[in-house]
Order: sequence, then structure tokens, then C-alpha cells
Amino acid sequence: MNHLLSIEELDRPAIERIIAEAARFAEVSERAVKKVPALRGRMILNLFYEASTRTRSSFELAAKRLSADVVNFAPSGSSVEKGESLKDTVLTLSAHKPDAIVIRTPWVGSAELVTRWCSAAIVNAGDGKHEHPTQALLDVYTLRGRLGALDGLSLWIVGDLAHSRVARSNILAFTRMGARVTVAGPPTLIPRDMETLGCEVRHTLDELHDADVVYALRMQQERMTQAWVPSLREYATWYQVNARRLRPRQLLMHPGPVNRGVEISGELVDSPQSLISAQVEAGVAVRMAVLYELLAGASGPASSSLRPARPLRSQRQPDPHPQPA
Ligand code: NCD
Repeated sequence: MNHLLSIEELDRPAIERIIAEAARFAEVSERAVKKVPALRGRMILNLFYEASTRTRSSFELAAKRLSADVVNFAPSGSSVEKGESLKDTVLTLSAHKPDAIVIRTPWVGSAELVTRWCSAAIVNAGDGKHEHPTQALLDVYTLRGRLGALDGLSLWIVGDLAHSRVARSNILAFTRMGARVTVAGPPTLIPRDMETLGCEVRHTLDELHDADVVYALRMQQERMTQAWVPSLREYATWYQVNARRLRPRQLLMHPGPVNRGVEISGELVDSPQSLISAQVEAGVAVRMAVLYELLAGASGPASSSLRPARPLRSQRQPDPHPQPA
């Protein structure tokens, strides 16, 4: 694997491999000294053109736990404010010789574009409403930890499907792992061609009780150019996941940030049914696995399904998990 741009490019064995690696790395976070030397001397650049709390902090922590050097870039306070383009910013920062660039932007296809401008491994941390592959991987990892295999599970994704990169990546990842995915939301927030991703579509929550897991999405207002629902209040009346709609056996997920009282009731966010904190925790281990796979992993047979790219940057390291020195 040379880049991680989308779930579309990963088959089930590739997802399984990353999840298994993440499970091994999770143990590092339990140690008193939370560090292994697996990526010592490597440089990772976090290039975030959009707001982020969970994704950015967990990529930074993942890199640091692998002993890599990290440079965090945010457009505010940089030459982007003076008009520097994405390409020139990437070319400029490439002078620092990053081994990997983790990039989030509001533009569909930006991570793919960056692969053409430098030789670093590129990780898509969200490109507009297109994809957010590490979110999907950490969600699969979280569900695996809680429920075991996803085969045959019924997963409902509820909310603003039209503007959500998480939804796109998650539908692909969940179905690839054997789950049945249903998406639900107002007709204005579900794209017409949604079924082509392999899911069923509903416009009411009448059959929500069919779900083993309900995955709520935030209204992505930053990507909305017009009013897609009459009001957030009206939306909540019909589509809010709350204690009236969710049965005690059903699990609840959300990528964060949550708008309490809109897509989920506040009480459910804090309930034992909620996996939201587990999802955040999983983020570090899964991103350690992705960075390790890109910068030190071998190209196994499952990689044949991945995007063809340049040769691997380094040889596999013998033991990524030795005790800290
Ligand atoms: C999501 C994102 O930015 O795509 N958040 C995240 O990465 N955890 C979803 C969102 O912003 O609603």
C-alpha cells in the first residue's frame, strides 16, 4: 500500500490486515511509556485545511507513538492567507522531505492530486464530501471489538448522506465486511444514486428497530449551499435518534462532532449504548496501523487490490512493537 485515498481501493483482506495491525498497536496506548520506535527518523506532515479535533489529534498522536517527527500545518497563520495555492504549499513543505502527508481539505479529489506533486505517502483525512477512509476503518475496528464479525449485521446510517464523506467511506467499508447497510434521511439529503454503493434507502425511521447498529451523521451545514430541510427543529422531529426510537439492545455510533439535540438526543450520547468514545479511542491505534503500513509495511498479496503506485519506500521492519528502550 503506497497511499490511502479511499475505501473504494481497499478489498476485505486489506481492511482485515489494517484492523489486525491496529489491534496489535492498541496495546501501546496502555503502556506507561506510550511509544515504540517503529517510525523513528520518519517525518509526517499533517496538512489540515478544514477544522478537525479528533482526526488531527489522533493522527498526531499516532505518529508520535510510532516515534516519527510531526509537523502540523494549518492554513490560518500560513502563506495560504497570502494566496498560496494547495500545490505551491505542498511543493514548499515537500522541501522538508515528509515521508507521509496526512491531508484534509474541502475539495473532492485533493488527496489524489497531491500524490502527483510529491513522493510522500498520502493519507486522505477527508476530501470534501468524497471520502474519509480512516474514519471508516476505525469504525469497523470499533464494531469488531464490540460485536465480533460484521457479517450479517444490520447497520443503519441516518442523517445528511448527501454531504457526508464519512457515509460514503462507511457504506463501502461496512458492506465489504459483510454487513447490510440501510441509509435513512430526508429525500433532499440522500443522493439519487445512493443504492449503487450497495445500500438500501429509507426516508423514515419506522423500521429503525431492524438495526443492530445505528450510525448518526451531523448535518454538514458547512457544505450546504441552500436550505435542504425546513429547519433543524423539523429535522430533529423526524430523524433524531433518541431513546424513543432506539431500543436498549441497539448500539449507537457517530463520527463526531455531535450536535446534541439535533441528530441525537443528549441523553443517548452519554448512554451505555453509545460507542462514540470508543470510536475516538480506536482512532489512534487505527491511524498507527495505517502510517506503519504505508511507511514500513510490506506489500502483501491483499495490496494487489490497492491503488498501483510507486515502489515501497522502505523495507519491512522486523518488529514494530518492541518494548520501549
Ligand atoms: C467528520 C468529518 O470531518 O468528516 N468528523 C470526523 O472526522 N470525525 C464528520 C463531521 O464533521 O460531521
